[in-house]
Amino acid sequence: MSVVTDAAFQQCIMPGCGAQYDLGDVLFACRKCGALLDVRYYWSRCEVPDSLSFFAKRWSTPGRSLSARADYSGVWRFRELLPFAGLEDIVTIGEGRTTLQQADELATHLGVKPGHLYLEYEGFNPSGSFKDNGMAAAFTMAKRLGRRRVACASTGNTSASMAMFVGLTATRSGEPMQAIVFVGGGKIAFGKLAQALDYGAMTIEIAGDFDACMKLVQESAQRLGLYLMNSVNPFRLEGQKAIMYRVLEGLDWEVPDWIIVPGGNLGNSSAFGKAFIELKELGLVDRVPRLAIINATGANTLYSLYNEHSLRFDRGALDSQRINAYFKRMTDEGRRARTVASAIEIGYPVNLSKALRSLEAMDGLVRQVTDEAILDAKALVGRYGYGCEPASGASVAGLRILLQEQMISPSDRVVCILTGHGLKDPNVTVEYHRGENTGSAPEGIERKYANPPIQVGADIDEIAGLLGA
Ligand code: F0G
Repeated sequence: MSVVTDAAFQQCIMPGCGAQYDLGDVLFACRKCGALLDVRYYWSRCEVPDSLSFFAKRWSTPGRSLSARADYSGVWRFRELLPFAGLEDIVTIGEGRTTLQQADELATHLGVKPGHLYLEYEGFNPSGSFKDNGMAAAFTMAKRLGRRRVACASTGNTSASMAMFVGLTATRSGEPMQAIVFVGGGKIAFGKLAQALDYGAMTIEIAGDFDACMKLVQESAQRLGLYLMNSVNPFRLEGQKAIMYRVLEGLDWEVPDWIIVPGGNLGNSSAFGKAFIELKELGLVDRVPRLAIINATGANTLYSLYNEHSLRFDRGALDSQRINAYFKRMTDEGRRARTVASAIEIGYPVNLSKALRSLEAMDGLVRQVTDEAILDAKALVGRYGYGCEPASGASVAGLRILLQEQMISPSDRVVCILTGHGLKDPNVTVEYHRGENTGSAPEGIERKYANPPIQVGADIDEIAGLLGA
């Protein structure tokens, strides 16, 4: 089905190719060269405000009108910056009503000046992760295209979000949709699996990991006509740009020095780079923050390619043969991703080339952190705040390393993205605090911030003794 708008189109990200496609072309790679696609805009035909502070007026209470519903969304209240759909097409479940939190206690603990460390709690989205930002945009496109069967591969959060959108939006519109999710058997945290099952998604457990699921869902989408909701869908990333808009909003439109984000399939890092490239192009910011992408050591493809193999986007002259050769070696050697942060247990990130573009545009760097560092950082976030899931802890663990390296200074203004809610993966949390290991957590770690439960009899005197009373 063709979707025509005179302001938006799709384009191959490689400047040397630059092939353009209609918005309604359902494509997840360039037909000419196989590279990823962007959603692009003729900005002169769009109503872009002169200043970002324009968006401050949009905060609203829920209402029934189309504009009130869009304004209530933390994605669509920035709709002038992702203008591929009209108000009447917008799908929203109230995503993105997250706010930036100043984290002074955590800052002091880590050696950052109070007032300089901020946490963007994306776990406060309706399905408990940042994915809702992207799904709002991808479901809007699915609606425009009239697609009813949506599918994804997932380490858990994408599937939870997609299943929730199907449940909520299908109920509202009365049009049946079907969510089909591919997950690795035994590979996803129970909080997330519980969501997909409860929200009624057809949940296909593959005997394999996320990378195997990703390959299968792409093949299935092609062969069976499913609409793919993973972040190779360029509309997903349009929604995720809004995370950066809200960070700026939380800082009264001042640009921070650093954005630190965990890297898995590299959708967020890709979206963040695109957001800032566009804001700069539009003259809405005068500089861009630096980007730090944090891999887990057991799932460090980007780290390895960027730091050990010096792979760069190179203004689009990126040598994709080198990526293919690296992937082939990984496959031949049977290397698989393995980390306690199951959300980022990914060896073949599909957005690699876009993430490299972001690193170039945002003077970025890549670091890797151990499972132990991830769990300690997660426990600290929990102690001083609302908590997060293991993958999100990677951003704070990354900050720690960058402070030690003096790459980040205590007076830099830093934003760590906390991608998922603490309740997503309770097993890992309880194991960390109790000091048990039932298979989720790494062996032999110190558990510096453990807060184990204290076993006592049902006896008031024992409790009084415990409390020193
Ligand atoms: N943090 C969380 C909580 C995630 O769920 C994911 C990805 C990431 C970080 C990594 O983000 O892919 O943009 O680099 N989860 C995907 C999923 C893969 O299936 O839920 P990314």
